[in-house]
Amino acid sequence: MSHGRGDVKIDLLQESRFWIRIFKEHALFIKLGLPCDRTDLINEAEGLYQELSTLEDVLMARRNLDSRLVQEIGAMVSELIEFKERVLRMQLQCEMYANLFPLLIDHIRREAVRFLQLLRTGTLTPPGGSLLTQLIRTEVFWLRIMREHIDFIRQLLDPSERTLIRALEDLNVRFSDALETARELRSMSESRPNYFNRAIRFTEELEPLVRELRDLKAQAFELLLQCRILSAVSSPLLLDHVRREADKFLEDLRVVQRELGRFESPR
Ligand SMILES: [Fe+2]
Ligand SMILES: [Fe+2]
Repeated sequence: MSHGRGDVKIDLLQESRFWIRIFKEHALFIKLGLPCDRTDLINEAEGLYQELSTLEDVLMARRNLDSRLVQEIGAMVSELIEFKERVLRMQLQCEMYANLFPLLIDHIRREAVRFLQLLRTGTLTPPGGSLLTQLIRTEVFWLRIMREHIDFIRQLLDPSERTLIRALEDLNVRFSDALETARELRSMSESRPNYFNRAIRFTEELEPLVRELRDLKAQAFELLLQCRILSAVSSPLLLDHVRREADKFLEDLRVVQRELGRFESPR
């Protein structure tokens, strides 16, 4: 569905339900990785976890969003972003040694910043560029996220997990290539072509690649639950979390693919 100047509207309630659950888990992951003597930060993470849980319950019970609730969600997510930034700053300034990769904190900060933007504009394609560029920008965002998931999982596996590590390294190469290509296509789209069949083909070829990663995450989650993988993962939930994000990418990708249809040249 498209409106006005070609914005792609999204279902904000569904979007909020998905992301608030994700953000609740971010608070948990941070809490699990903090040094045990930083009880102040651990309590803060726990507090955020509780507040986000409550908000998630509210959203699950609601049939629609009103402006007050949207404001409440925005305030909550802003608070979470501020917390993530503070943790990241402490890491960058070596004021704290946590069992959390700084890039992971930056990663989850970016996820929250993007959601806040969606919440405030109500569209998948916020102003600041043509529709075509915004559609490709959505792919760039997700590809970067997926490439980092591969890196994080790979780094958390026990060194004895050679076969899995190799599979992830292979996927890393393919996602890095896809990310690079997406960035190039986004840049080219700034010339505002009327047709861009190459971007359509790129998007079609992306789907099976993302599905492959999604299935690997689902499988790794099952193996972790069965205690059949050795790793430094602080909670198996992390694998389910990144699998859900891959499914969300697939969902957004379908919207992108549909909207890109307008940029197919007539034959
Ligand atoms: Fe996440
Ligand atoms: Fe993520």
